[in-house]
Amino acid sequence: MRIAVTGGLGRIGRAVVAELAAHGQESVQVDVAPTREQCPGYRRADLRELWQAVDALDGVDAVVHLAATGLPDSHTLHPRLAEGATFTVNATSTYNVFRAAAMHGIQRVVWASSETVLGPPFRIAGPGHLPLDESHPVRPETSYALSKAIGEELARHFAHRYSMTLVALRFSVVMDRMDYAALSEYWAEPERGRWNLWSYVDLADAAVSCRLALTAGLAGAMAVTLAAPDTLSDRPTAELLDRYWAGVRVARPLGTFESLQSSAKAHELFGWRPVRSWRDNDG
Ligand SMILES: NC(=O)c1ccc[n+]([C@@H]2O[C@H](COP(=O)([O-])OP(=O)(O)OC[C@H]3O[C@@H](n4cnc5c(N)ncnc54)[C@H](O)[C@@H]3O)[C@@H](O)[C@H]2O)c1
Repeated sequence: MRIAVTGGLGRIGRAVVAELAAHGQESVQVDVAPTREQCPGYRRADLRELWQAVDALDGVDAVVHLAATGLPDSHTLHPRLAEGATFTVNATSTYNVFRAAAMHGIQRVVWASSETVLGPPFRIAGPGHLPLDESHPVRPETSYALSKAIGEELARHFAHRYSMTLVALRFSVVMDRMDYAALSEYWAEPERGRWNLWSYVDLADAAVSCRLALTAGLAGAMAVTLAAPDTLSDRPTAELLDRYWAGVRVARPLGTFESLQSSAKAHELFGWRPVRSWRDNDG
């Protein structure tokens, strides 16, 4: 199977390409960024243009769509305009990738949504219940989150119209060893993690989720939460809840440092279990 990884030069994209290669799968890195590195399958494309997306997906069997832009770049644009740019890049690119996949008859697209579709940073309304899971209403509070929520709607359309399978991975903040080394600052101010419930997902686990979702027996459009099994905090989850989210309904008893996001559906649908934690990091 030949897999196009859009955003293939990005942080998660590189990890996915490595994960696929480790399992004997060939990938094509599609990215707008130029590269001088040796990337045998590299195809440069700006996915905001449909024709470029169509060219980029020629001859592939499945797609991992990760290309997107994150936080607004306030250095180059007024922040409000930058928010609009984030939305436009992400929503347009996602439409174009799904559309190009449909035109090529590609049946499986695994793509990066975000935990933010469910409400983080929770400035307008707090979580409806905890742990956060797929039964929680979609309530984007930013243009970035809205672009991902629109992507999920687009996925439902393409699944309905072309009988494609599109798996939205609602990643929490992706972290790795380098990030874990800097956690002491984060612990000094526990309120810093309140916005996303102190959640994260390890980069290598995120890459594994893409590989598993590519081949699992699934049909239609679906979205799943992907978070590490524990919080990023050094404080017990019950203490964080009491101090920062008192009054929010907690659906079940939680372990001492258990995550406030549940990835049970990803396990049920394609066997993904987050196995890496910052707590295993030897520094
Ligand atoms: N990193 C996180 O914590 C996190 C959390 C939740 C969701 N996500 C999502 O996961 C995906 C990958 O994230 P990442 O951290 O690897 O991001 P990244 O910024 O490292 O990589 C994104 C890549 O997409 C490319 N890209 C952007 N616009 C493009 C366009 N128009 N055409 C072609 N390529 C384009 C960029 O050049 C870059 O290489 C994104 O969709 C992101 O929204 C990331």
